[in-house]
Amino acid sequence: MGQYTASQRKNVRILLVGDAGVGKTSLILSLVSEEYPEEVPPRAEEITIPANVTPEQVPTNIVDFSSVEQSDEALAAEINKAHVVCIVYAVDDDDSLDRITSHWLPLVRSTCSSSSSSTNTDGEPDVARKPIVLVGNKIDLIEYSTIDSVLAIMEDYPEIESCVECSAKTLHNISEMFYYAQKAVLHPTSPLYIMEEQNLTPACKKSLVRIFKICDIDSDNLLNDYELNLFQRRCFNTPLQPQILDEVKSVIQKNVPDGIYNDAVTLQGFLFLHCLFIQRGRNETTWAVLRRFGYNDQLEMCKEYLRPALKIPPGSSTELSHRGQQFLIALFERYDRDGDGALSPEEHKMLFSTCPSPPWSYSTDIRKSCPTNNSGWVTLHGWLCRWTLMTLIDVVKTMEYLAYLGFNVHENDSQLVAIHVTRERRIDLAKRQSSRSVYKCHVIGPKGSGKTGLCRGFLIDDMSKLLGKEFKTNVVHCINSVQVYGQEKHLILRDIDVRHALDPLQPQEVNCDVACLVYDSSNPRSFEYVARIYIKYFAESKIPVMIVGTKCDLEERRQDYLMQPAEFCEKYKLLPPHLFSLKTNKKELYTKLATMAAFPRFQAAWILFYKHRYLRQFGLMTEDPKVWLKAGLGVAAATVLGFIVLKAISATGTHSR
Ligand code: GTP
Ligand code: MG
Repeated sequence: MGQYTASQRKNVRILLVGDAGVGKTSLILSLVSEEYPEEVPPRAEEITIPANVTPEQVPTNIVDFSSVEQSDEALAAEINKAHVVCIVYAVDDDDSLDRITSHWLPLVRSTCSSSSSSTNTDGEPDVARKPIVLVGNKIDLIEYSTIDSVLAIMEDYPEIESCVECSAKTLHNISEMFYYAQKAVLHPTSPLYIMEEQNLTPACKKSLVRIFKICDIDSDNLLNDYELNLFQRRCFNTPLQPQILDEVKSVIQKNVPDGIYNDAVTLQGFLFLHCLFIQRGRNETTWAVLRRFGYNDQLEMCKEYLRPALKIPPGSSTELSHRGQQFLIALFERYDRDGDGALSPEEHKMLFSTCPSPPWSYSTDIRKSCPTNNSGWVTLHGWLCRWTLMTLIDVVKTMEYLAYLGFNVHENDSQLVAIHVTRERRIDLAKRQSSRSVYKCHVIGPKGSGKTGLCRGFLIDDMSKLLGKEFKTNVVHCINSVQVYGQEKHLILRDIDVRHALDPLQPQEVNCDVACLVYDSSNPRSFEYVARIYIKYFAESKIPVMIVGTKCDLEERRQDYLMQPAEFCEKYKLLPPHLFSLKTNKKELYTKLATMAAFPRFQAAWILFYKHRYLRQFGLMTEDPKVWLKAGLGVAAATVLGFIVLKAISATGTHSR
């Protein structure tokens, strides 16, 4: 915390301009020496005030201008370099006052707009208009005030942040003048407030509405005392005193009748409060809130807040941490208004109302790629699955959306703690056990072989419902969880779309934790493609591969290929083909795929998994295959046993189909 509560400015550069003789040089020298200099040079040297003696703790440069010493080009360059321009006039000299509108304001505007593609001293592009402070000097010479004429100018030029009357001679308002200039840079009014309308700008309102929603933990559109206190603590690190809270509420009540409801602050009340801060010159309060919620000086969410640097070593992957999951569960429960354990399209939309747009479409993405309830609505499990998927394939987007949803504020931290970076794959391979809990499986096969049905079948209880279905929406990923030795693992099935049989696969289409190569066992022309893909892309790789023959409820056909699938698998030391059908509704395929991904380089163990099938086929085994399976897959036993079993299967393999 703290990191985002201050403006990102590292320094403030203040330029003084104005007609000759108005007292620019005197003002600067009075500030520095705290006494009025009788004799002044035409131009003061640039001075730097160290951070610790400025009210806002930011190093500040003050730059003088002299028309005698400097050319128009030099002035233009200084205007561009400055963060704020103080236009000085002498209160006793009407000409110098007139020249503000006839010369100085237009000059600053045109200088900045003609070089808007340039950058200022921080290397940031100049987007907003340069803030201006109007300074009426020599107030010691007159008995009246020029403030009325100046206020009229202020209305016409929104870039004017403030105006001040002062005297270099008596030192009246000198430090205030520099403080206002500093504040105009660090806590500018114009992005927040429209003077003519006496109202917040649309961008400011929008940001505050988002903040209100994030702070409204029980989603009742009100901030109660508990929520206000939490908000205060998060933004300012201090609790709210009960009597101050009461005062704030009564001020709101007096000014906006619907600002308080049931002794809690409504959105209107919250917006009014910020309007009031700004009108009373307390912009810094509103800015502190905005910055705490990630906004930069242009009221955009800043890059560092949305996308903090995360180091992902090659071969590592990204998953949600426990804290990330907890946050998402709480969010789900907050927006599951009717408590039915699922998000309706409306609830889903409300949940993402603090984001520019939802990260995925409800109808064509999340409800098609994750488990849903009977009405096709996203369950808590499906919700976590979808986030798990995004975190694996696009962790930056996960971090962005966590920030939009208020993670950083709620958890008082950056969203980096919501992400777990797994150890590198080569360490997993060396230890023969994966530490991950999310695996990516690519489902590859010729057109019409049943890839999509196999992927979608993972999401529903009764796969037979998918028989004969035409899949209209193009969903790339399907994700669900399975138990691998009592641990929950997420498995992502990616449907690799094959356009033409001879199209090469891209590296990102090959690279995965386990490959599922699918052929249609009822179509004699189907296996050839799978065999070719295997030989070309997987035979030499370390990626575990499972060959799957689909539609096994139909009559199996001999494949027009030089080897039958079982022979092929034997030759390449693969598991025998897994026969799959939507009709029989058996889910063991998914568990097997996850197991293969979880135990890389553990071919022997997977083959054990299969051994019972062979033994049973040849009448060699009568006991319950599950018992076999558990014993055989004990991690210690499997490494030794594996070798023997592998041989045994090679020897009996010729008898298989
Ligand atoms: P240039 O460098 O020529 O552009 O002028 P400047 O704006 O730097 O003005 P400078 O500081 O040189 O002051 C001009 C005259 O005004 C000097 O004689 C100052 O002593 C006088 N002066 C400056 N500030 C004040 C003030 O607050 N009150 C009074 N009475 N005179 C002042
Ligand atoms: Mg001067």
